[in-house]
Amino acid sequence: MKAKTIFYCRNCGNESSKWIGRCPGCGEWNTYIEEPVEKKTAQTVVYEVAERARPQKLSEISAVNYQRINTHNGELNRVLGGGLVPGSLVLLGGEPGIGKSTLALQVALQLKNRRVLYVSGEESLQQIKLRAERIGGKDEDEECLFLNETSLENIFAFCNELKPALIFIDSIQTISTQGIDSSAGSVSQIRECTAAMLKFAKATHTSIFLIGHITKDGILAGPKILEHIVDAVLQFEGDHNHVYRILRSLKNRFGATSELGIFEMRGNGLREVSNPSEMLITTNDEGLSGIGIGATIDGIRPFLIEVQALVSSAVYGTPQRSCTGFDSRRLNMLLAVLEKRAGFKLSAKDVFLNIAGGLKVDDPAIDLAVIAAIMSSNIDMTVNHLYCFSGEVGLSGEIRPVSRIEQRIQEAQKLGFNKIFIASANRKGIDVSGLTIQVVFVSKVEQLFKALFGKS
Ligand code: TYD
Ligand code: MG
Repeated sequence: MKAKTIFYCRNCGNESSKWIGRCPGCGEWNTYIEEPVEKKTAQTVVYEVAERARPQKLSEISAVNYQRINTHNGELNRVLGGGLVPGSLVLLGGEPGIGKSTLALQVALQLKNRRVLYVSGEESLQQIKLRAERIGGKDEDEECLFLNETSLENIFAFCNELKPALIFIDSIQTISTQGIDSSAGSVSQIRECTAAMLKFAKATHTSIFLIGHITKDGILAGPKILEHIVDAVLQFEGDHNHVYRILRSLKNRFGATSELGIFEMRGNGLREVSNPSEMLITTNDEGLSGIGIGATIDGIRPFLIEVQALVSSAVYGTPQRSCTGFDSRRLNMLLAVLEKRAGFKLSAKDVFLNIAGGLKVDDPAIDLAVIAAIMSSNIDMTVNHLYCFSGEVGLSGEIRPVSRIEQRIQEAQKLGFNKIFIASANRKGIDVSGLTIQVVFVSKVEQLFKALFGKS
């Protein structure tokens, strides 16, 4: 008899009895994969507490004061909303090689006075030891135990025996349960194993960190399938060619999702970056044209970032426009505004734009810094290195107000800038009396040009 199969979307987990080209659930193309129908041959979950829940009144429910676990990692604590909640299931996602295992191992080794179980299905214990030596893990840390295992049942057996406070699973795509026929990494295995971990975490008040790979067109199931099961989804992102890594929370049942953690990947592990502005701005480029500093906000975190532009005459036919870290369509729009509203002749020029540090910025407030950098490079005059910018540019060349302007000004002041250019329309929202930084209001692109370079 032909074995029964079912089709799953590997992006969002949607099911279908036949193959479909485009997933009706998430809209992605060509994501359906065939898997055997889930056949549960055994009871999967094996944990000890088997208390039956009973409906309760709100007044009967004892208010648990979450004693959050301090992970001894400031940036991670911040993203989690002030530490790790006991009994929570956290998914740490990211592309392969971005540093998920490194972060997990670092946290596992730093945790004091709590038993940690680090389960790796990807690396041998020797590989983990090498990595631990690299990031300076000490051998006397006997609270942290390592296990190389991929069977869910075996992992739970060890958990029942060792009663760890925190478990790391690296990665969920390698774990499988006997209860399901399909292979590790398939949609049904991932879903079943995660659901079992959630039950385990809640029943035993153990916190579990799941590591999950995100691959756009790989075979592995996307973490979207898990998003609604877990308590928090953290995403680790960054450019492989750069050292900065950003940890974002996409979902958090115990905190805000607007927090952001920044790390630097070094030869000896990840270093927390608690003041991002200082490293995103190079201080030795006074006197170079084509640089504008923008005051931007990601989530709720303000920082200053350097925008570099190079404008030169196009030598080969069609002028080139290229940017890194910034939307290229937005660049084209800003160039059109400069051309039409401020009389710049950019149509025969190559324009290159780069956001320093390999970060991607989609905050519109960066527009003003972009424009300043382009104008500076075009006429080859420098922008004073103590000036910074925060404003959006509209199609008619007007400077538009941006949100949280006070926070941006404070950050610029803290970093020692002495002038910040913002939109006139932002004037209402702020009190400039207590500020040592000079706030300059501009309402038009031409006005900015005049203020910076003294020409008209
Ligand atoms: P890793 O944590 O293995 O990534 P993931 O688990 O997300 O796949 O990180 C791998 C990369 O990080 C690898 O290219 C080497 C680099 N790395 C460092 O630069 N410094 C270090 O101390 C470590 C441990 C790794
Ligand atoms: Mg890894």
